[in-house]
Amino acid sequence: FIQSNGHKIFGPSQYSAKLETSKLFARDFMEKYNIPQPSYFKCSTEEEVVSVSTKLGFPIVLKADGLAAGKGVIICNNPLDLDEAMDIMFKEKKFGKAAEFISVEECLKGEEVSIFIISDGENYKILNSAQDHKRIFNDDKGANTGGMGAYCPSPLLNKELIENIEKTIIKPTIKGMKNEGSPYKGFLYVGLMLTNGKPYVIEFNARMGDPETQVVLPMMNNSIYSLINASFDSSLKEHEIINKNGYCVTVVLAASGYPDNYNTNILIKGLDKISSEMYFHAGTSIDNNQNYYSNGGRVLNILGYGDTLSEAIENAYSNVDKIKFDEMYFRTDIGQKGLNYIKELND
Ligand code: AMP
Ligand code: GLY
Repeated sequence: FIQSNGHKIFGPSQYSAKLETSKLFARDFMEKYNIPQPSYFKCSTEEEVVSVSTKLGFPIVLKADGLAAGKGVIICNNPLDLDEAMDIMFKEKKFGKAAEFISVEECLKGEEVSIFIISDGENYKILNSAQDHKRIFNDDKGANTGGMGAYCPSPLLNKELIENIEKTIIKPTIKGMKNEGSPYKGFLYVGLMLTNGKPYVIEFNARMGDPETQVVLPMMNNSIYSLINASFDSSLKEHEIINKNGYCVTVVLAASGYPDNYNTNILIKGLDKISSEMYFHAGTSIDNNQNYYSNGGRVLNILGYGDTLSEAIENAYSNVDKIKFDEMYFRTDIGQKGLNYIKELND
């Protein structure tokens, strides 16, 4: 609508964005273009789901087709979990129309990594990789959230693996969208599972991620404005992405109780003790005296850089230590998964 009124819009068209807004559209698209992904079946009844579960075995993944605020994926380890998940999706209709159809999927095992791309419809550039921490508690326990912290880049990706991801996933996606008559312009977030060293697509998002953006953009030396213009003008080919060396980590400071109920309007102290480049506001408000207050579940993103991942983690948490507000909650293990990967790679 905005475009048809003569304005420049950066981002995918409504059709291209279906890669995120319909999980089944994305799965069918990947099947058509031979992009590696888990086996999946489109289901709309309990009978269909049970029949697929006997075929695939456990664990099995149930995914609402439509958007469900990041909560539409349920991993079932046994028939009891499956009954519960089917109740949530089909009987209680917790996700409403979003789960009228669901994708029932093979559960892939391995390590997760996200890759961020900017595309002009024809050409694309990889911005960087990152890993989010979706669960509310340490060790990936508790409820799913929008994301409690992230680090960039992922130590799991080497040159060979990136080439493989480009060849088997990114190029066919950009080419496929063009072939569908809807060239993909904008950011594309590719969520991958590395299973036995091979990449499979878990999900696409038609945007950058939160809090992944807070680590991907600070690592980049390019002007984001120039890249966005190049996406409009279809001139991305002329650009080269230049990233800083080392790592960036962000820790989300949340209000205790998030992602369920939490208090707001709590005075935040200590922001003056860290450089303004080392934090992003997420859910805050400001009064006339320039005091900041919490105004959401995820309140602030605190950053740390380092030549090594452990240094970046240390710097992020040392910045976190300077910030105080009542009922502040954060995970204390952001980046640990990355350190474990590095340790495994070195062993
Ligand atoms: P999504 O919202 O699609 O990213 O799914 C949320 C999380 O569920 C992912 O980050 C994975 O950890 C997990 N997941 C989703 N689909 C699968 C799958 N087919 N196999 C294994 N894990 C999955
Ligand atoms: N952090 C995951 C997302 O933005 O969807």
